[in-house]
Amino acid sequence: MVKPAFTIIFIALLLETIFSFLVTCPFQLGTCDALAEVEEEPYHIGNRKCRLCHFEYFKEWEKDPHANAFARLGRMKNNPYCLKCHTTGYGQPQGFVSEKITPELRGVQCEACHGPGSKHKDNPYDKGAFPIGRRIDYQRVCIKCHDRNWTPEFDYDKYRKRIEHRIKPKVEKGAPSR
Ligand code: HEC
Ligand code: HEC
Ligand code: HEC
Ligand code: HEC
Repeated sequence: MVKPAFTIIFIALLLETIFSFLVTCPFQLGTCDALAEVEEEPYHIGNRKCRLCHFEYFKEWEKDPHANAFARLGRMKNNPYCLKCHTTGYGQPQGFVSEKITPELRGVQCEACHGPGSKHKDNPYDKGAFPIGRRIDYQRVCIKCHDRNWTPEFDYDKYRKRIEHRIKPKVEKGAPSR
């Protein structure tokens, strides 16, 4: 049997909680965040997820120097200055943190150029789910890393040809479809 005193305390606590949500939510105060359906910003999900539907290009990318960019750092693997350009999403929401914590985001992956893909993965046909896609000015993306220091002779058209990929995505079994 539950003692009545406990029941009363329990109900009081419950009422208190409900009351605090009722009071704070209209004013957008702290406790409300726990309940609110926040409009979620897209975040990085890592290459292995892109592979699910873009398998053919994933295989190509694995041969690209970008795939090897993290290994290139050698003993500088923990240097924040280097990580900015040799990993995916360093310093951004759910981007690369360290080799231990986020090994799946090593190197310059799909999302380093196409933007974080969490929404696109869940809704591949929803154009609104992108930063991913053609609307991005890719040249501006490239020169964030291919700056005058590292690639003094950067020529967008030439460099882009070397990473050209226009493979039609195939949605594998089990992935969300149109
Ligand atoms: C602003 C972006 C950026 C930063 C910061 C950066 N790199 Fe790079 N790194 C590049 C780019 C871009 C290339 C490819 C250059 C090319 O071939 O056009 C590159 C290439 C390299 C290479 C291949 C050999 C070469 O020199 O081309 C090594 C090794 C390397 N980086 C190491 C490092 C290390 C170590 C650090 C930190 C001390 C670092 N990078 C910081 C962008 C950067
Ligand atoms: C170094 C930057 C870079 C990386 C890394 C990269 N892409 Fe791309 N991707 C591009 C550019 C640039 C285009 C061409 C966009 C344009 O001008 O139409 C493109 C085009 C595409 C397209 C075709 C869009 C179309 O117009 O048909 C798909 C799909 C795609 N990328 C998927 C991927 C996937 C999956 C990966 C990782 C396995 C990846 N990309 C990695 C830069 C990159
Ligand atoms: C569930 C399957 C699926 C996953 C996972 C997926 N994609 Fe896609 N992706 C598609 C489909 C399908 C299209 C074609 C959409 C269309 O034609 O409207 C597409 C289109 C694209 C395009 C071209 C966009 C454009 O402007 O036309 C890019 C770039 C792309 N994906 C990159 C990625 C990246 C990067 C990842 C991983 C972060 C990823 N995709 C994960 C299914 C997927
Ligand atoms: C997040 C940083 C980053 C972005 C964004 C980026 N790159 Fe790179 N890129 C690198 C690094 C680092 C290397 C060197 C990799 C290595 O040698 O290990 C590289 C290497 C390359 C190479 C090979 C160069 C060589 O000397 O063989 C090409 C080509 C290239 N990038 C094209 C592009 C293009 C085109 C874009 C934009 C669509 C782009 N990259 C965007 C970081 C980046």
